[in-house]
Amino acid sequence: MHVREAVTSRYSCRAFLSKPVPEATVREIIEVAARAPSAGNMQPWRVYALAGEPLAKLKALMAPRMSELPKGEGTDYTIYPEPLTEPYKTRRFVVGEMLYKALGIPREDKAARYRQFARNWQFFDAPVGLFLAREKAHGPAQWADIGGFLQNVALLARDHGLHTCPQQAWVSFHKTVRAYLNLPDHLMIYSGMSLGYEDPDAPINKWRSPREPLDAFASFSGFSA
Ligand SMILES: Cc1cc2nc3c(=O)[nH]c(=O)nc-3n(C[C@H](O)[C@H](O)[C@H](O)COP(=O)(O)O)c2cc1C
Repeated sequence: MHVREAVTSRYSCRAFLSKPVPEATVREIIEVAARAPSAGNMQPWRVYALAGEPLAKLKALMAPRMSELPKGEGTDYTIYPEPLTEPYKTRRFVVGEMLYKALGIPREDKAARYRQFARNWQFFDAPVGLFLAREKAHGPAQWADIGGFLQNVALLARDHGLHTCPQQAWVSFHKTVRAYLNLPDHLMIYSGMSLGYEDPDAPINKWRSPREPLDAFASFSGFSA
């Protein structure tokens, strides 16, 4: 698959088939993803990959947690800046509206919206759940490096006919995840990520998020035609 096709065919997939992904494939994706650049070649990413029974146990653990703690456990880092200013606020709002519209869930139906959002904590039925962790002591440069690694995972997945969804929603249950993974004190969860085969018939997979036009976010000078 050409890089361009991998980039343009990637989207956040939110419904997966149960078809398993072989361990060798997941290992290969993660190993090659580590070719991502990082400041000083620190390679600050840490990955926990779950499938089969360990994944099923985590999903079972999470199922009642949502009604016990609908607001989660609080996040141990700020995901969205407060206040979220324009144009970012509108961009975030638009994808939310598109997602729920694809499912026919109206704005007023908060319970149905929450039920859908809670699918995050079942990894949208993906057969593989990844957690990307980071050193608590690391700063913005290392967070950015882990973002590049995450994107490599998403693109390499496409090369295997697989799809992904990055999931910071897992940070809302960072205590449960920490305990379940036995995460050492010096690490914290940066994001979860679903990995598997997309369900092409699922309505939630049938819309695509918009992007700003090129000239709205990039400027060019000094080029010859
Ligand atoms: C670090 C990160 C965390 C994300 N967390 C979630 C999440 O918890 N749940 C979710 O459904 N989507 C999540 N997303 C997906 C974004 O909503 C999505 O990337 C954005 O709307 C653009 O859509 P696209 O990925 O389909 O192109 C996350 C994306 C990133 C990069």
